[in-house]
Amino acid sequence: MSDKNSREHWGSKIGFILAAAGSAIGLGNIWKFPYLAGENGGGAFVVLYLICIVVLGLPVMIAEIVIGRHTGRDPVGAFKQIGGGRWKLVGYLGVASGFFIMTYYSVVGGWTIGYIVKSAGGFIGSMTDIRAAEETFTRFIQNPFETVFYLFLFMAITVFIVMRGIKDGIEKWNKFLLPLLFIILIVLIIRSLTLEGASAGLAFYLKPDFSKVDVKTVIEAMGQCFFSLSLGMGAMITYGSYLNKEDKILSSSLQIVTLDTFAAILSGLAIFPALFAVGMTPDKGPGLTFNILPVVFSKMSYGSVFAVLFFILLFIAALTSSISLVEVVVAFITDEKGWSRRKAVLVFGSLIFLLGIPSALSFSTLKDVRIFFGTTYFDFMDRLTTIYMLPIGGLFIALCLGWKYGLKNAIHELDADTRLAALKKMWAFSIRYISPLILVAIILYFGVYRMLFPH
Ligand code: TRP
Repeated sequence: MSDKNSREHWGSKIGFILAAAGSAIGLGNIWKFPYLAGENGGGAFVVLYLICIVVLGLPVMIAEIVIGRHTGRDPVGAFKQIGGGRWKLVGYLGVASGFFIMTYYSVVGGWTIGYIVKSAGGFIGSMTDIRAAEETFTRFIQNPFETVFYLFLFMAITVFIVMRGIKDGIEKWNKFLLPLLFIILIVLIIRSLTLEGASAGLAFYLKPDFSKVDVKTVIEAMGQCFFSLSLGMGAMITYGSYLNKEDKILSSSLQIVTLDTFAAILSGLAIFPALFAVGMTPDKGPGLTFNILPVVFSKMSYGSVFAVLFFILLFIAALTSSISLVEVVVAFITDEKGWSRRKAVLVFGSLIFLLGIPSALSFSTLKDVRIFFGTTYFDFMDRLTTIYMLPIGGLFIALCLGWKYGLKNAIHELDADTRLAALKKMWAFSIRYISPLILVAIILYFGVYRMLFPH
């Protein structure tokens, strides 16, 4: 077991904030949020989302960072320390979630590299209609060699960065990649908004329509907020465990959450105006990014350049999230089992690559292999983690802090500033009562109701 004092720390507060925001800003922000907003009342959904952040996202974010910094340990070690006994299972659940998410997230990460390469090679020129774009995408994900190769490349890059450690690896790269992500996003927004006919997309995306908001949309927004902030598996516990004692948790959390929300809202501003300007209609999920956007780019001047930029954006979003997912596993192995970082990253990076292969092949060789309730390996991993493991993990994180460990102790870990007393009380109330209730609602809705009655 490694000595607690020999653990690394972030070089600066901004380094921590950017790394945590890098974890949060991921594929979820760029393809899921804009679509959800567009379909669920536009501006009304955005308002709803902001409320979710205040009542669920921010409190759980603060809770995870408090647990991390207070214990200075990986999720398993942290729950051993603050909960003891069976509570350490919450840590194991988190580490397992990180590992499982990686086995499909890295496949999509590989696709983004593939599309950067293809866009740079000028394939956008022949994507003039949706059929051509769909065929190209299907042919790509059905190619076992190409997808496994890009999966390997994506994992190799992730491993390379995580191996260098906290300050010289994760922090350094996030400090470079995250500003780049925002610059690309802004360039794309300017291009998108200056296209003729862009305003129709803006109206679709942001025109508030409160009639579309009901209980389901509220839970949908809650779920998206939770996933988007990388909560429920100890990613923020792990990053928080490298935080210096002087850094303020409340203000850091607020900044991380703000960056994540900005990235989500801005992605929609880049996507929808361009989409409507060329007369396309929105579609959800991978379809939007990989099938529709290539057609949009084919209709713009310098479309290939913007396509390359867009897929680099998607790649950065996936990479900085993957880095944090792998770091959760690595922190556990180095802290609890005493392995060197190098060995842990190499062994578990390779394992993720190997278990990622069936995900990559879920669209080709293993297309007809059903794992569970008719889902492919890729879909199974996705649903298992996002619908069950993360919300359940989040529920137990809140319960452990709120009921077992006690909030008096936790509050000490927040700012000493007494002017914030009321805020801290509100946080404590949310962690004890509100967050657990919302998480139970999320689990029942997505995990039970929607599984039994899919629509
Ligand atoms: N937040 C990421 C996204 O928006 C996905 C994600 C969920 C994640 N849980 C995580 C990333 C934990 C890192 C760690 O795409």
